[in-house]
Amino acid sequence: MPREAGGVALLSACTRAGDVPLAGRGTVMDRCLAAGLPVASSCSGRGACGRCAMAVLEGAAALSPASLREQRVLRRNGHPEGARLACRCRVLDPALRVRVRADYW
Ligand code: FES
Repeated sequence: MPREAGGVALLSACTRAGDVPLAGRGTVMDRCLAAGLPVASSCSGRGACGRCAMAVLEGAAALSPASLREQRVLRRNGHPEGARLACRCRVLDPALRVRVRADYW
């Protein structure tokens, strides 16, 4: 996967069709939507519904830490350890590669 210009982290979505590079800044959700990948949501990205949860396949250390609220929403919705809310997490470390996957891709 090529490194993006301007220090933007390497982020890709692992879909059944292969890895989709997610360019740009913002939350993982922002970047998925900009790449044309749907992201489940019933709270419009406010961190309340838990539907945007994704598995982090690689590079969890590069993501912003989960807030207590995010942890609570993930637990309440029964998501496995290591899942993150795409609407809440951002890539902070541009040196690390991050790969995420949603069940419905
Ligand atoms: S879109 Fe609802 S928690 Fe992320």
